[in-house]
Amino acid sequence: MTLLKDKINYSKLPCHVAVIMDGNGRWARERGSHRIFGHQNGVKAVKETVEGAGELGIKYLTLYAFSKENWLRPHEEIEALMNLMVSTINSETETLIKNNVRLMVIGDMQNLPGYIVEKLNKVIERTCENSGLTLIIALSYGARWEIAQAARRISGDVVSGKLKAEEIDEATFSGYLLTRGIPDPELLIRTSGEFRLSNFLLWQLAYTEMIFSKTLWPDFRKEHLYKAIIDFQERERRFGKTSEQLKCD
Ligand code: IPE
Ligand code: IPE
Ligand code: MG
Repeated sequence: MTLLKDKINYSKLPCHVAVIMDGNGRWARERGSHRIFGHQNGVKAVKETVEGAGELGIKYLTLYAFSKENWLRPHEEIEALMNLMVSTINSETETLIKNNVRLMVIGDMQNLPGYIVEKLNKVIERTCENSGLTLIIALSYGARWEIAQAARRISGDVVSGKLKAEEIDEATFSGYLLTRGIPDPELLIRTSGEFRLSNFLLWQLAYTEMIFSKTLWPDFRKEHLYKAIIDFQERERRFGKTSEQLKCD
């Protein structure tokens, strides 16, 4: 029997994979447990995905961990998620370092409790020279907020004379986003059978291949990642051209 992993074409790996980790609450409900139990079990899936992406040689992995809209959830759930964040950073930092992972965070840090930002900054600093997988955690992240704050900073630079209005093009604009310097995701995976973006990377996903899986996030394992990559590799990415044109390129 061929293993799923052996079907991956390593010369066609997506450089950047983004994941909307969804379905923790439903996973817990199926077991008659509280939503927080689902979040706790989602950590295992995070570890598997980070490890799996690193082993394959994927360069960038962005995980949507907490959206700006998630601040609307019940206070106890938010608190539990923040505590889980801290305990996961504590338990996983050495593994990240050992595995040559570089940590980055995108999102509105001003909304996060100071102790979490401090903790994250320490790990970001300790791993900034690592040359393996870049793990980007989207935390208190919202794409419309990100785009609006980019527009605000651009207009500030135009007013101060640092930038000319006619210099604003797609590349300049990208440079004002939090993902500056990071290639756009080639593959997006959303778990739990929902077909929406929920305010995730709206600019960066313009030409991304999307895979929607029914698997609830706590059940997501390396094999699910491999399967998504294999499906991605079977697609023809046309970027506006015709299929015939691509064959001549
Ligand atoms: C994803 O799972 C985790 C976060 C959004 C933090 P959910 O908590 O959204 O789980 P469902 O969608 O309610 O099942
Ligand atoms: C999106 O999931 C955010 C994260 C996975 C962190 P949600 O569960 O919050 O999305 P909606 O509200 O169902 O669109
Ligand atoms: Mg959800």
